[in-house]
Amino acid sequence: MNAKWWQRGIFYQVYPRSFQDTNGNGIGDLEGIRERLDYLVKLGIDAIWISPIYPSPMADHGYDVSDYCGIDPVFGDFETFDRLVEDIHAHGLKLVLDFVPNHTSNQHPWFLESSSSRDNPKRDWYIWRDPAPDGGPPNNWVSYFSGSGWEFHEPTGQYYYHAYLKEQPDLNWRNPEVREEMHNVLRFWMKRGVDGFRVDVIWHLIKDALFRDDPPNPDYKPGDPENNRLIQAYSADQPEVHPVIAGLRRVVDEYPDRVLIGEIYLPVSRLVTYYGEDLGGANLPFNFQLIGAGGHAKDLSKIIMDYEAALPPGGWPNWVLGNHDQPRIASRIGPEFAPLAGMLLLTLRGTPTMYYGDELGMEDVPIPKRATQDPWEINEPGIGVSRDPERTPMQWDASPNAGFTTGTPWLPVSPDYAQRNVATLDADPRSMLTLHRRLIELRRSHPALEMGSYRTVSDEDEVLVYLRELDEQRVLVVLNLSREARTFTLPEEMSAARALLSTRLDDPDRSGPEVRLRVHEGIILEIE
Ligand code: GLC
Repeated sequence: MNAKWWQRGIFYQVYPRSFQDTNGNGIGDLEGIRERLDYLVKLGIDAIWISPIYPSPMADHGYDVSDYCGIDPVFGDFETFDRLVEDIHAHGLKLVLDFVPNHTSNQHPWFLESSSSRDNPKRDWYIWRDPAPDGGPPNNWVSYFSGSGWEFHEPTGQYYYHAYLKEQPDLNWRNPEVREEMHNVLRFWMKRGVDGFRVDVIWHLIKDALFRDDPPNPDYKPGDPENNRLIQAYSADQPEVHPVIAGLRRVVDEYPDRVLIGEIYLPVSRLVTYYGEDLGGANLPFNFQLIGAGGHAKDLSKIIMDYEAALPPGGWPNWVLGNHDQPRIASRIGPEFAPLAGMLLLTLRGTPTMYYGDELGMEDVPIPKRATQDPWEINEPGIGVSRDPERTPMQWDASPNAGFTTGTPWLPVSPDYAQRNVATLDADPRSMLTLHRRLIELRRSHPALEMGSYRTVSDEDEVLVYLRELDEQRVLVVLNLSREARTFTLPEEMSAARALLSTRLDDPDRSGPEVRLRVHEGIILEIE
């Protein structure tokens, strides 16, 4: 089958600040990623997506870019970057960079120019509006990180819009110069060997031309983050965003075999529009439907089937369990269910994206107030929005700071690191890490898992059963999501089955047509 690497492959997100520090400043760096490539190869993943590494004042830890064509010294320089690209490719892996086009840093030279006067040629590169008649903000749009989305700029008497921090002014993507300049940024990195981009908040790029107020969200409850008060009907997901994304895609397609991934938090029916007309949009609009999902078999099968049904013809699916903005999967569903989640992610139809450390079962780490780094938590303290808990250092071994740094780590290392670390789990044939390796191996060696069709066989009694099928190959996945042992009886036409893998990593109990599942067990079978 003529599949692209990003269809067959498995993505692995590295949050570079937290992966591996090599210079003792407590912050991970590019050289650290390079030194750990053997680990990633042994794990079996295909592509690395690295969160932003560009020069940045780090108001939002790199998502506030002050130079799109540079490397922040905290992460390295072009020499280390080029060496990393070369080594990644020499290891047979691909590299995807984070691209943050919705906003720049307020320290970006473009914004400094734009804000210098109303008639500066770059004034229109950002979103400037006159105050409302009462002098207040031009409309009711809120910042995702709380407060108004508008910041008054005294010297020029106008407000600028920022969907995130006030240190992250939004670019005006209706301006053709902005588009052209950003296209050149993509070309710059592709010429340097980058295999694609994960585009930050891509559904935000275009805002309502009339700047209409967002309507109130009837489901808002006190205690929710402030951004939940409104429905973003006008401040995001506008129809005119699609031609803009198609423009990005055309640039990406100027170079062979690249991928365009979009970060999109929208309901499925909206999400799938981001494949674009004639699939000319994002190759992979990130599918976050599992992120808010509970653990009931029926809910999961509905999520999977709704998503499958909504895909446009030819649109390739993908699944994400976690990232640097979401509580860790092991904490969301409980560590006892985490192996099942891993089995689900790696056996569904579509490209899986793993988050660093989830293969170890890393959990959210409680961060003392004084150690807080996330600007969102600083803006809205105490309501549980902090993203620091899922960004703690990778746990490599039992040495001080888990082998992450010789200095003081920028976020505390999880207290469980002496047991939960790569070195220990690597040597344990029943560990979460071993399970992930086996799952990846199995996916790779079974075309039905990589490329086959999906069909739910049963979601009764909290046991989710689905079939992946390609040509003659049939692979059945049976996940016991209940809190007790369960038996699933194979349908007649599947009764000749051989167990390939259990989440317990021992020999599953198989006899006749009955698949006996222990508590929290998942089993993969090949139907003969
Ligand atoms: C995306 C990033 C998040 C960042 C935000 C603003 O959602 O994943 O970390 O804070 O965009 O750039």
